Amino acid sequence: MKARIAGIGAYAPERVVTNDQLSEIVDTSDEWIRSRTGISERRISTGETTRDLAAEAARRALKAAGVDARELDIIILGTSSPDNNYPSDACSVQAMIGAENAVAFDISAACAGFIFAMNIVHGFFQAGIYKTALIIGAETLSKVTDWTDRGTCVLFGDGAGAAVLKAEETGVEDMLMGSDGTKGPILSCTSRTLGNFLTGTKPELGLMTMDGQEVFRFAVKKVPESIEILLERNHISREEIKYYVLHQANERIVEAAARRLKEPMEKFPMTISKYGNTSSASIPLLLNDMAEKNMLQPGDKIILSGFGAGMTWGAVLMEW
Ligand code: ACO
Repeated sequence: MKARIAGIGAYAPERVVTNDQLSEIVDTSDEWIRSRTGISERRISTGETTRDLAAEAARRALKAAGVDARELDIIILGTSSPDNNYPSDACSVQAMIGAENAVAFDISAACAGFIFAMNIVHGFFQAGIYKTALIIGAETLSKVTDWTDRGTCVLFGDGAGAAVLKAEETGVEDMLMGSDGTKGPILSCTSRTLGNFLTGTKPELGLMTMDGQEVFRFAVKKVPESIEILLERNHISREEIKYYVLHQANERIVEAAARRLKEPMEKFPMTISKYGNTSSASIPLLLNDMAEKNMLQPGDKIILSGFGAGMTWGAVLMEW
């Protein structure tokens, strides 16, 4: 059996922060941010946690799928900004939505988290172990952002997206995942540094650091490369693909991927302008936007592609 999206849901904090507002805290401008990234505004939490955003997105996905939380066998939550070391945010969400029959755990694959979660579930479905799953990408990146660093703080936003997956005859056709740990330092955020009675220091919390140009180079190579692998090994022509649903990191990365694939920009929907880069949440936020606009019909073939810290990357060829 294959993993099929039975319902999708998304949720982002209400508070909108515009580029002009950011130009009041760091030396930047609306023109710079728009032209280099495609971002106009982002949502920033003033109180809601990663698990709060995740639980609301999950409730909406369950409603859209017509599935009761007690029917869920498994919950996987991808995040790079969890609320706790433990319990996992997935376990917290399990309690918040009353999914008492599910096993729940988080995964750490940064912006590829939603794709990794989908692929893990697909594997369980193929093995006949589970039938109904909830996958979530949820982030409060604002808490790991260095708000004095104009090179990163203009890029990110908070939000969550979720999908209910059911084991059916159609759905995920093929998928791939990869990682390259040697590239870890180009995009990182330490948790607590070591500190104890022997070192005589207190643990400190880290903030996100990024070599933007290296990430850019990595993305414009890996995204089209993984899409081409899926097309070639499934003998699918580009014409058969209705949309490419790419992680929303930067409009220029999406444009570069479209150019390399020789596909028109109309096949690359985007939400980056209103949410910024929401890491693991960006793909389900985009899918939710597409579903709300009625852009997807049963039988449509789409490719999802994500990449992120690790470095990690993943792609899915699926039928809607
Ligand atoms: N406002 C104004 N100027 C800025 C800003 C800003 N917010 N940020 C950087 N600059 C300046 C730099 O200081 C530099 O000035 P200098 O030439 O005087 O030194 C100049 O702008 C150019 O900086 P670059 O870093 O070369 O700018 P670039 O065109 O590469 O754009 C960006 C930077 C947007 C970060 C780009 O590299 C990028 O998008 N990289 C990919 C990053 C990404 O997608 N990250 C997501 C990571 S998480 C994930 O989803 C995987």
